[in-house]
Amino acid sequence: MARFSGKSVLITGSSSGIGAACARRMASEGADVVVNGRKESEATVALVKELQAMGRRAVFIAADVTTAASATTLVEQAIEALGGLDVLVNNAGVERRSDFWETTEEDYDLVMNTNVKGMFFCTQAFVKHRKAAGKPGAVVNMSSVHEDLPFPHFATYCASKGAVRMLTRDLAGELAKLGIRINNVAPGAIATPINQHLLDSPELLRPLEKKIPLGRLGQPDEVAALTAFLASDEAAYVTGSTFFVDGGLMVSYTEQ
Ligand code: NAI
Ligand code: BGC
Repeated sequence: MARFSGKSVLITGSSSGIGAACARRMASEGADVVVNGRKESEATVALVKELQAMGRRAVFIAADVTTAASATTLVEQAIEALGGLDVLVNNAGVERRSDFWETTEEDYDLVMNTNVKGMFFCTQAFVKHRKAAGKPGAVVNMSSVHEDLPFPHFATYCASKGAVRMLTRDLAGELAKLGIRINNVAPGAIATPINQHLLDSPELLRPLEKKIPLGRLGQPDEVAALTAFLASDEAAYVTGSTFFVDGGLMVSYTEQ
């Protein structure tokens, strides 16, 4: 079933990890895709070629989503490149670890501007486009279990994903009358570059795996599968919610 046949999709931060998996998944189901990252790299060139080899239109657009101007320009360039956009996946995200009392303004701004401001203004530009076209659309935000679950030493990250949770719940009501759905995907620990330190150190990885009921980290394509469902018309009656893909981390318990 080609759920994205004839649809155009922008995935922010799709140069690696979960975003790249979403690009592959949606292209494999018929989508034309704009791949985004801060800079073009060997990986983005290879990914675009891979999507084109599937018979899709695919382009890379370099943009840093941390300012309203660059986020807006990214969406406008994506619309121009593909002749419109049906789906926006706000996936670009960063985290910084520090004790709360040592956290710098620089790290605060980086995390909040990437994870919240970027999502806010990409979504705004996407909504203006769909509204002007008089057409429906779907937005999927890559949130985290940490939109809800505390994560000591990651206060900025928790604040940012908590904001994404509320923005989605708020916007769902406002955008419904335009036919635009918006939902969050909330992954647990997934094997991507953001977790390289974990993947490189068994002494950190094992205790985490023990806390996850399914006993392992997730794979990017397991997150992409849920993202694709929410972005597709199969989820036509789904808006304003968060969906966890976390191996049970949110319902974790300690055996007695
Ligand atoms: P990643 O580090 O591989 O991907 C992050 C992507 O965002 C990269 O492509 C990077 O180039 C891009 N990016 C960062 N800052 C950007 C900016 N200013 N402008 C444009 N692009 C930018 O890590 P991963 O895991 O694939 O992360 C993707 C999303 O998934 C993030 O929002 C992250 O918070 C979220 N997430 C990841 C989890 C995990 O365990 N891997 C769990 C829960 C959420
Ligand atoms: C974070 C990862 C962490 C995972 C589970 C994600 O949001 O980006 O670093 O492993 O949550 O705690």
